[in-house]
Amino acid sequence: MRLITFTGKGGVGKTSIAAATALRLSNMGLRTLVMSTDPAHSLSDSFGLQLAAEPQRIKENLHALEVNAYTDLKANWGTVQRHYAKLFFAQGVSDVMADEMTVLPGMEEMFSLMRVKRYKRSGNYDAMVLDTAPTGETLRLLSLPETLAWGIKMVRGVEKYFVKPIARPLAKLSTRLAELVPPEDVFGAVDTMFSELEGVREILTDPATASIRLVMNAEKMVIKETMRALTYLNLYGFGVDMVAVNKLLPMDEDSGYLEKWKATQQKYLTEITNSFAPLPIRKVKMYDDEVVGFNALEKLAEDLYGDLNPAAILHTEPPTKFIRTEAGYEIMMKLPFAAEGDMEVWVSGDDLFVQLGNQRKITSLPLALTGITPGEATFKGQWLSIPFALTSQPARTAVNA
Ligand SMILES: Nc1ncnc2c1ncn2[C@@H]1O[C@H](COP(=O)(O)OP(=O)(O)OP(=O)(O)O)[C@@H](O)[C@H]1O
Ligand SMILES: [Mg+2]
Repeated sequence: MRLITFTGKGGVGKTSIAAATALRLSNMGLRTLVMSTDPAHSLSDSFGLQLAAEPQRIKENLHALEVNAYTDLKANWGTVQRHYAKLFFAQGVSDVMADEMTVLPGMEEMFSLMRVKRYKRSGNYDAMVLDTAPTGETLRLLSLPETLAWGIKMVRGVEKYFVKPIARPLAKLSTRLAELVPPEDVFGAVDTMFSELEGVREILTDPATASIRLVMNAEKMVIKETMRALTYLNLYGFGVDMVAVNKLLPMDEDSGYLEKWKATQQKYLTEITNSFAPLPIRKVKMYDDEVVGFNALEKLAEDLYGDLNPAAILHTEPPTKFIRTEAGYEIMMKLPFAAEGDMEVWVSGDDLFVQLGNQRKITSLPLALTGITPGEATFKGQWLSIPFALTSQPARTAVNA
């Protein structure tokens, strides 16, 4: 099953582009499922149809759903929740609070991941498209399987080494203690849920079937957030295979009082092209109305993909690699432009700048690398290698390419 995830800052057009992509895939004859994981769903609005929390056929080859964290919580976590809510309640915590306290951070995202695995395993779909919440939440969603690995170990460990051999025999001696020790079905429910998540990371990062597409607008704040997302996706090992720049004012039409915006967008478009290449960058213009319904979505897909096959993995190599070295880190960067002229590499805030002739590439640095001055950059084949030593370095490095 091909898995395509759309992410990007709030309001840039993720849902519209996810819906359009799913529609195009289904028109190509692929059995497609589009799922919104954003608690503030708008997939229904985009299609102009009311969707449910389970897959529903909306067209030939096309199913859609909007996950409902509440029902998923009850179904997967109800047993655990009831046990702890009872305990908290007995301690004088109000029942609403007690319910809330049994929900772990990231749990909503977890249910969406469980569904991805379930739908892949079902064999019912050739393609799945994920419409996600704005960037931060999505990064949390994607990094979750990693974060949860310790949880799985801990829960199983506690049960195996403490609850079964020690706590349960002791609980037989005291009713007070018996109330505190979770019954077996509580551990069972936790264990089942974590088991459901095993293998999800492999599904999300499988370079042969999964990719992430970044949606953005040509605006300063949006570019910054999208660069940061790309850096973290690279770090976590997720393949990004396309950037969609949405809502561009058309150059061949008069944009009235938005004319100035047009110039600003063109300036940022150059920055996007330099910074995100060699990823394919696709452009979509700002339409004269909102994008709702099959016809508008088909038009959007046509403008976005043109001759491209939306089901293909459109780019395979990560544009930036972060490598841990003995001295610190090495950033390997595939440069979008030919290496000629003087090159300058410097860090400002959490941005890494590479200036080559009159072209400039900007990359967000991961937290671990901010504040470190880069060493001398050198070319290794097509890749620019920039070392980051954990000891101090000269403030600004200039080298000849
Ligand atoms: N190219 C476009 N031209 C005109 N309107 C657009 C375009 N793309 C999206 N829109 C409209 O912009 C609004 C926001 O789009 P959409 O809901 O797809 O963004 P989003 O990134 O999913 O937002 P959120 O972060 O809130 O989930 C919608 O009303 C949509 O119809
Ligand atoms: Mg949306």
